[in-house]
Amino acid sequence: MEVTVKKADTLKTKPADQSKLGFGQIFTDHMFNMDYNPEKGWHNARIEPYGPIQMDPATMVLHYGQAIFEGMKAYRTEKGDIQLFRPRENFHRANASNRMLCIPQMDEGFVLDALKELLRLEKDWIPSAPGTSLYIRPTIIATDVFLGVRASDTYRFFIILSPVGAYYPEGFNPVKIWVTKRHVRAVRGGIGEAKTPGNYAASLYAGEKAHEEGFTQVLWLDGVEQKYVEEVGSMNIFFAIDGELITPVLNGSILPGVTRDSVIALARLWNIPCAERRISIDEVVEAQKAGKNVEIFGSGTAAVISPVGTIRYNDEDISIGNNDVGPLTLKFYNALTDIQYGRAEDPLGWIE
Ligand code: COI
Repeated sequence: MEVTVKKADTLKTKPADQSKLGFGQIFTDHMFNMDYNPEKGWHNARIEPYGPIQMDPATMVLHYGQAIFEGMKAYRTEKGDIQLFRPRENFHRANASNRMLCIPQMDEGFVLDALKELLRLEKDWIPSAPGTSLYIRPTIIATDVFLGVRASDTYRFFIILSPVGAYYPEGFNPVKIWVTKRHVRAVRGGIGEAKTPGNYAASLYAGEKAHEEGFTQVLWLDGVEQKYVEEVGSMNIFFAIDGELITPVLNGSILPGVTRDSVIALARLWNIPCAERRISIDEVVEAQKAGKNVEIFGSGTAAVISPVGTIRYNDEDISIGNNDVGPLTLKFYNALTDIQYGRAEDPLGWIE
């Protein structure tokens, strides 16, 4: 399939101060679009000026949330080259999410090539200040105009781009986390392992409660017993206990993060013991209280690695590793960002 290109007549002014970018507020001049219907499959692939999507108020995605999205980044190296980090994994996961949301599969190689073409056109939007990148948001929405509950017959796929800095205003500083047993994000057998808007909608109420209590994020426990740790905020979670890395095993209600997979792969490369298993919040708290060496961090595309400094559990504030960024947390953060920005070799072939 050909990708047609229609360029914008006028270009936007790019942000003057890249150190103030924040996250997801500014969008580039162009976007990629593609449509699906049962007769033609995915068709009409096109790069067009960035702009609003006009929709009938009865469009299905607005009512039943049948949609998936992805998050990935393009990085500018010190030499000025542009790099993507494991983009094939993101499009592969998009198709896994599509399966769970009854959305048709797409050609992963084709959409990656289309993304690269869009990036060539928008390369001047990829910022160069330390810690900045171009966030990439591929999205698919159900577009039938119909109010019955069923899977849509038609869809729209689009990719938008946003120059970003740090995801959390705290930057790479330890955040405070609220452990709740009152709210759950997802259950096994549901759609917790899909990157779909409903999971994020399900996280908002508890997130607001956490903010009211002075915490940055919620630590999510499993939806059945509220005992085993699943995720933190919108990220996967890792614990280091006396030098062993532990992350919750993918059980159907946890998002299979690309950064999560990368941390595990680096740990294996460095011969750091790394277990994917169930881990209860009590095990973590007991390890900290027993004076073991504990580190906790979140992993995700947006913030890469996010250290946890304090957790509130059962009305008690527990400080993790003296509220400092632990050595393993820092090692993973540095290794990942050095690979992403081309400052270090790419030992596992992740860059393209
Ligand atoms: C991530 O990249 O860690 C996320 O999931 C956050 C994103 C939804 C903004």
